[in-house]
Amino acid sequence: MKIGIVGIGHSKFGRRDDVTVQELAFEPFVEALNDSGLQREEIDATIIGASPVYMTQRSIAGPVTEYLGLNPQPVWLTEAACSSSASALRTAYALIKSKMHDTVLVLGVQKMLENPTSEILKIMGRTGDVQWEAPYGTTFANYYAMYANAHMTKYGTTSEQLAKVAVKNHFYGSKNSKAMFQKEITVDKVLESRIISSPLHLYDCCANADGSAALIVSNEEISKKISDTPIWVEGLGAATAPFSLLTRAELSTLSSAVEASRSAYTQAKIDPTNIDVAEVHDCFTIAEIMAYEDLGFTERGKGGEFVENTYIGGKVPINVDGGLKAKGHPVGATGCSQVVGIVQQLRGEAGQCQVDGAEKGLTHNVGGHGQYCLVHVFSR
Ligand SMILES: CC(C)(COP(=O)(O)OP(=O)(O)OC[C@H]1O[C@@H](n2cnc3c(N)ncnc32)[C@H](O)[C@@H]1OP(=O)(O)O)[C@@H](O)C(=O)NCCC(=O)NCCS
Repeated sequence: MKIGIVGIGHSKFGRRDDVTVQELAFEPFVEALNDSGLQREEIDATIIGASPVYMTQRSIAGPVTEYLGLNPQPVWLTEAACSSSASALRTAYALIKSKMHDTVLVLGVQKMLENPTSEILKIMGRTGDVQWEAPYGTTFANYYAMYANAHMTKYGTTSEQLAKVAVKNHFYGSKNSKAMFQKEITVDKVLESRIISSPLHLYDCCANADGSAALIVSNEEISKKISDTPIWVEGLGAATAPFSLLTRAELSTLSSAVEASRSAYTQAKIDPTNIDVAEVHDCFTIAEIMAYEDLGFTERGKGGEFVENTYIGGKVPINVDGGLKAKGHPVGATGCSQVVGIVQQLRGEAGQCQVDGAEKGLTHNVGGHGQYCLVHVFSR
């Protein structure tokens, strides 16, 4: 049995003091429901991907489900840091495949900006090892700065190459009305911005954000019945890497991403050359460069040069909705947001950022500083 995505929705990302977490969840839910043409009663279960630690409202699954009008159907929460909602999609796939449920709502929702940056950095830092790393003040920018230094030392990757990733993603973000940042930037602007953790500048970093995105996922029979353009989930890869940096063999790659992509390609019976468009986890510019290599789009060490191939018209258009860099990164919502971008592409509904004739798309959602990674392959 195939599993299809039949409805998508996406809120505006950014500072969303105007809404509660329930209201934020409602925005993409209603879009996805209308998109699918289903009624609330036809959704058998909901899986929410979120990192509750940033939010005032705890155990958000209950209040959100009530607000969406989905009682008494069951709900679960999946938490895997920044890959929480990709984990929710994987769980939904398994539930439908096992025939426990026929149609599942997968909803990524996150409020982060209820907290000042200093508090967010502390909370996020505790996603790293609280015994040996967080007490020394490690932030995510620090982790990815270490990866960037390792990549630069080993392969000669430059700050200009990192900056070019930011320039590309802000270019596409400027065309995305749901993105937090909708302004183009230049390489000089990136290099002149303040250092957050050397060598990463402000514009090498994604921004903390509030936001939500939703997917309605159904079994093959329902997908074919209700949609002319169901987007099929062809391959799911998930893997973990050592949590503690001390036990990582290499800092210039994420072994979880290599392993997750290998299983996703195997299940989908394809290789990286078959991917027409991809959304990768560019929480920092170096993360996108590492993803080019870990996903097999280019040889190891060549990621810095590959950015030129990731514009529309290039070898593999990547993050042509702005990526985390320009959309903002509301951690629990990002996995679903990436899938929404790929579904739009495969349906031919991506407007001015459409990749002509895209047939196969990929998402790469990293959790923590690489301890989790989920790679999904989709086809039209
Ligand atoms: C880099 C960072 C520390 C900056 O936060 P900050 O110092 O509080 O920045 P501010 O909110 O004061 O913003 C200062 C300005 O820079 C802008 N800005 C903030 N972060 C930005 C970013 N990442 N990219 C582009 N612009 C950014 C703001 O919009 C603001 O612009 P304005 O002055 O025109 O309003 C924060 O964005 C951050 O923590 N990013 C990393 C998030 C992360 O690690 N996520 C997990 C990854 S797996």
